[in-house]
Amino acid sequence: MSIDTPLTSILGIHHPILLAPMDVISGARLTAAVSNAGGFGILGGGYGDETWLERETAKLKQSTSARFGIGFITWSLARQPHLLDIALGTRPHAIMLSFGDPKPFARQIKDAGALLICQVQSEAMAEEALDAGADILVAQGTEAGGHGASRSTIDIVPAIVDLAAGHVPVVAAGGIGDGRGLAAALMLGAAGVLLGTRFYASLEADGAEEAKKRICAAKSGDTVRGIIFDMSRENVWPAPFTGRCLINDHARRWQGREVELLQTIKMVAAEYAAARADGNFDIAAVIAGEAVGVIHDIPEAAVIIDRIVTEADQLLLGRRNSAMALPA
Ligand SMILES: Cc1cc2nc3c(=O)[nH]c(=O)nc-3n(C[C@H](O)[C@H](O)[C@H](O)COP(=O)(O)O)c2cc1C
Repeated sequence: MSIDTPLTSILGIHHPILLAPMDVISGARLTAAVSNAGGFGILGGGYGDETWLERETAKLKQSTSARFGIGFITWSLARQPHLLDIALGTRPHAIMLSFGDPKPFARQIKDAGALLICQVQSEAMAEEALDAGADILVAQGTEAGGHGASRSTIDIVPAIVDLAAGHVPVVAAGGIGDGRGLAAALMLGAAGVLLGTRFYASLEADGAEEAKKRICAAKSGDTVRGIIFDMSRENVWPAPFTGRCLINDHARRWQGREVELLQTIKMVAAEYAAARADGNFDIAAVIAGEAVGVIHDIPEAAVIIDRIVTEADQLLLGRRNSAMALPA
């Protein structure tokens, strides 16, 4: 079974499901697993680590002959633009850029024959991306795990769909973890979904086992968006971006006390770095979004895709049937 949309056509994939390029978590194994299962895996180039990128792209080429993409955090890529040469050298089907102006990189990406996917959080960013020649827009809502902004998925997706006006497919991201989410995104006019948190809790994700277990144990409402974890790891992001992660002891201690945190940052940063090294997730953040409420297990990525597509297909079919059953 498949759900065909303009996204599946443009990417040449079977299911309208994209793996988010999660820094460190979306390695070669998970990217290949998603692509091999008929979705579109996007390797998490993140902030840009040359050794990691070379190792994971080499592994990826060995693990799949299916199409894949590579993602970068745009403002960070601008500091080491040669990483884009390495990425394009692996002949990805697409490069995904998030968080910053894609224009400086767009020509090189398109000249190399790759599609340009841009993740946006506002109409202004979508216009900037379309101006740069984006082939696909990802409209990201505040429910998303990791960095993002303030608009909800149910608001931003139709807004960007209207703005794109059928010129490029729009993908919904943020808070989507099951077939209901995919069906709802399609109803909002999206041509597919991009999933981060759901794939974090998969067998192939490169995350710590304990982090995956915490995602499964978390309930709806157990995440928070803010700047605590960026401050604590001394990784300052440009406005308007903040980060969403699971609420843990560290978040409970500092959320809303950012000024005090700043005053004691040296001590807290040292404590935080030690916790990250030890895998102590009472202090170190598990980066995850509001979809945790519908995530209860750690299956293979292929199982996740199959479940989501099957459930969405049934829901969409039910809707078609009930619409047909309405009196004329
Ligand atoms: C652990 C984690 C790491 C992430 N890292 C990145 C990243 O490096 N680059 C990026 O563009 N987006 C990153 N994101 C955000 C995703 O691109 C995407 O917007 C988000 O995962 C979608 O929401 P969801 O988590 O509810 O599925 C990350 C998300 C998570 C959960």
